Amino acid sequence: MTAPTSQSELIIVLDFGSQYSQLIARCIRELGVYSELHPFNLPIDKIRELQPKGIILSGGPASVYGKNAPHSSKELFEIGIPILGICYGLQMIAFQLGGQVDTSVKREYGRADMFIDDDSDLFADIQEDDQNPTINVWMSHGDAISRLPRNFERIAHTKNSPICAIRNKERKIFGVQFHPEVVHTSKGKEILQNFLFKICGCKSEWNAGSFVERKLEEIRSTVGKEKVICALSGGVDSSVLAVLLHKAIDKQLYCIHINNGLMRKGESEKVVKLYRNTYHFNLDYLDATDFFLKKLKGVIDPEKKRRIIGKAFIEIFEGEAKKIGNVGFLAQGTLYPDVIESTSFRGPSHTIKTHHNVGGLPAKMNLKLIEPFRELFKDEVRNVGRTLGLTDEFINRHPFPGPGLAVRILGEITKEKLEVLREADDIFIEEIQNAGLYNTIWQAFAVLLPVHTVGVMGDQRTYENVIALRAVTSLDGMTADWAQIPPEVLYKISNRIVNEVRGVNRVVYDISSKPPSTIEWE
Ligand code: XMP
Repeated sequence: MTAPTSQSELIIVLDFGSQYSQLIARCIRELGVYSELHPFNLPIDKIRELQPKGIILSGGPASVYGKNAPHSSKELFEIGIPILGICYGLQMIAFQLGGQVDTSVKREYGRADMFIDDDSDLFADIQEDDQNPTINVWMSHGDAISRLPRNFERIAHTKNSPICAIRNKERKIFGVQFHPEVVHTSKGKEILQNFLFKICGCKSEWNAGSFVERKLEEIRSTVGKEKVICALSGGVDSSVLAVLLHKAIDKQLYCIHINNGLMRKGESEKVVKLYRNTYHFNLDYLDATDFFLKKLKGVIDPEKKRRIIGKAFIEIFEGEAKKIGNVGFLAQGTLYPDVIESTSFRGPSHTIKTHHNVGGLPAKMNLKLIEPFRELFKDEVRNVGRTLGLTDEFINRHPFPGPGLAVRILGEITKEKLEVLREADDIFIEEIQNAGLYNTIWQAFAVLLPVHTVGVMGDQRTYENVIALRAVTSLDGMTADWAQIPPEVLYKISNRIVNEVRGVNRVVYDISSKPPSTIEWE
């Protein structure tokens, strides 16, 4: 990562392990200021180099005095950059600057009424009515500040938290016990706005366009004269990535579409045709069906499938890189949800799935990674794509996982099962397109279950496969609800699948949300 350009403003969020950390960064970007999440122990020199306009310390599940609790360095408070500590972040300020934190007599989870004691900066212009100096805030804490650090004053309190928000006006260090980044805090956005614009002096000049400018500069300076390989699956992320890279480094970019045999019906052909007709970057097509299917033979465990596929991709990229020559980088459209669900290095979140382009990569790789969207959510990447001029045909496609149909065939993968699933999936997508539902649904697909059930067709007993249909609505893939497809559309889909796909005698509809389920079945 390079230092920002003179015009671009950056707010750094230091992550102490809260489930809301990336939400803070996202809220700030929505307010028009570029924000990135970094680990809590980002070295001070690195922070100086990035020249942020402000720093936010996130919440976290630890207790500041706990064994192995994440601590920021004390120096952080001396570099003269405005700081806002949220929940654990507030307690960190007290811990480092001589205050006292104790386990609260009463823990506070959920809504609380907060009384504003000073409305001159962080809480300026947020009171709804002059007679009532309270706002609704969202609390989630066991510990609380019991003594202010030196040179700090209280600026808000609740019934259970006598010190709910603090300030050192001169050094521009603020802390709040509640979570301004969640929608349940009624004036959370305005409070963050006050921090950004009144306290840090930001100007709201970030948008997808300035993100593109910033990334073009970063990519050019990282890549230098070397070449970059980009795996163009045809999904939203890799499409936007390829166009961004092409703009940045033109002929130094080599896109490869790898058909791993796990694509949907006719997909590889469609993708290559679409790109060759629209864009003029180097694009190679490689049919690696047998290579992948051989490696996956007999494999049932979902995580093992993902790791095998990740490794096979890299083997191919490294082989191709050798052929092209002077390739230093592999570019991937990794998004924030891929990172957070695949790793736990930034916080306490457990590995949920090894997304193949993150945790599924082998430890030793000859190519360095370029992942410009690592901080973004899918809807943000779609905005970047629109800014780069990609049409709806590329942007509105449903997400498709890197391991493809491998994680939609439960159990062993065979060519025959792939054929059955492809046909069923194709009918499902065609019918939701016909019903005008495709763009209202985040993702829809068919899953082939590893069970046979009894049916009756034309007076004959059948004993065949079950197809599960999955369709969800979501904003960013982190949480999702099952889509309420009208019964008449489901009826038509089920009817067509059972009649047209050989080997299927039953269709079921998945009505689970995420959490507790995930979107993909494996
Ligand atoms: P889950 O199943 O974890 O999926 O709820 C969330 C979103 O991520 C996609 N997904 C993946 N994308 N590589 C990817 O590039 C993967 O290994 C992978 N696994 C899941 C999934 O399709 C959904 O949109």
